[in-house]
Amino acid sequence: MKIGVVGLGYWGPNLVRNFLGHKLVEKVIACDLNEDRLTQIKVKFHGIETLNDYQKLLESDVDAVAIATSVNTHYDLAKQALEAGKHIWVEKPFTSSKAQAEELIRIAESKKLNIFVDHTFLYTGAVRKIKELIDDGELGDIIYFDSVRINLGLFQHDVNVVWDLAPHDLSIMKYVLNGKEAVAVSANGVSSYNCLENIAQMSVHFKESSCFAHFHVNWTSPVKIRRIMIAGKKKMLVFDDLVYSEKIKIYDSGVEFKSPESIHNALVQYRTGDMYSPQISHNEALSSAAKEFIDSILEKRKPLTDGKNGLEVVEILEASEKSIKQRGIPVYLNNHTV
Ligand SMILES: NC(=O)c1ccc[n+]([C@@H]2O[C@H](COP(=O)([O-])OP(=O)(O)OC[C@H]3O[C@@H](n4cnc5c(N)ncnc54)[C@H](O)[C@@H]3O)[C@@H](O)[C@H]2O)c1
Repeated sequence: MKIGVVGLGYWGPNLVRNFLGHKLVEKVIACDLNEDRLTQIKVKFHGIETLNDYQKLLESDVDAVAIATSVNTHYDLAKQALEAGKHIWVEKPFTSSKAQAEELIRIAESKKLNIFVDHTFLYTGAVRKIKELIDDGELGDIIYFDSVRINLGLFQHDVNVVWDLAPHDLSIMKYVLNGKEAVAVSANGVSSYNCLENIAQMSVHFKESSCFAHFHVNWTSPVKIRRIMIAGKKKMLVFDDLVYSEKIKIYDSGVEFKSPESIHNALVQYRTGDMYSPQISHNEALSSAAKEFIDSILEKRKPLTDGKNGLEVVEILEASEKSIKQRGIPVYLNNHTV
């Protein structure tokens, strides 16, 4: 397998390193418009082939192209790669709109090419463990998913904080709650410095009205927090991605009502039992993602994070942006109206 990586800024070199580390990858060509970035990559990965012209990369013998450029360029570069017959890996968020994502999926299907969207967290041991716990019924019926991803973050020039940070949490939510259908989103956000929104809060409503998801993303927080809380009727879980050990803690806590009426008669029972932290794998997520990308191409199947997966996240991002512009009114997803 020969792979081209376009975009060698902050994230692209991680892709180069992980593809070079894969046993079936015989060559990686690194591409960027910026000559300094090409010089830096040559210093880091001695002997690597580089190009400053994307067209030349598409004319080369690479089987696949990984796109790690700014979000507003994903669609154009991805479309050109598919039209040149290359499988694609696209960084999150997949595209800047639902229509763009749908078009790329159509082209890939007609040319029998794979789309892989880098929702990296789905390849972490922690998120895999959370999914396993939920699927095994360990938490019981899920009543909420609540995430906070805030820090003094790098302001992006082309996307707001929702498009930059929320794809991580939305992709995790869709993966671990895959039985639940998101039907609407209400979001609020502000731009404190007269540019793109730097703080936002989003609520996702599901078809099943007893469950709810909430997301807080912020580039202007004095502290860094990467935390997801998921509560089930049996147990509750906290995932703190900033700690190395005990990333996931499961609390045997909950509330029990004997009957709906009992809430008025103070017959609510609180359960605060033990807490435990399961073992999780600490393998680098990008290495597992690179493996899934390559395996899916060789096995002629869709990867776990395929174009549809990317599209579903983009749809919520687009709806959130619409809702923010209308001060939080619910925007319905996928033709849902209620
Ligand atoms: N999966 C993750 O956890 C993760 C983490 C960080 C960033 N990302 C994503 O990676 C992408 C890149 O982010 P970044 O922070 O590395 O951006 P960046 O701005 O640091 O780097 C982008 C690079 O792309 C190059 N570029 C742009 N257009 C080009 C073109 N037409 N041809 C060749 N080179 C071109 C630029 O010169 C620049 O070097 C974004 O989509 C971002 O959302 C993903």
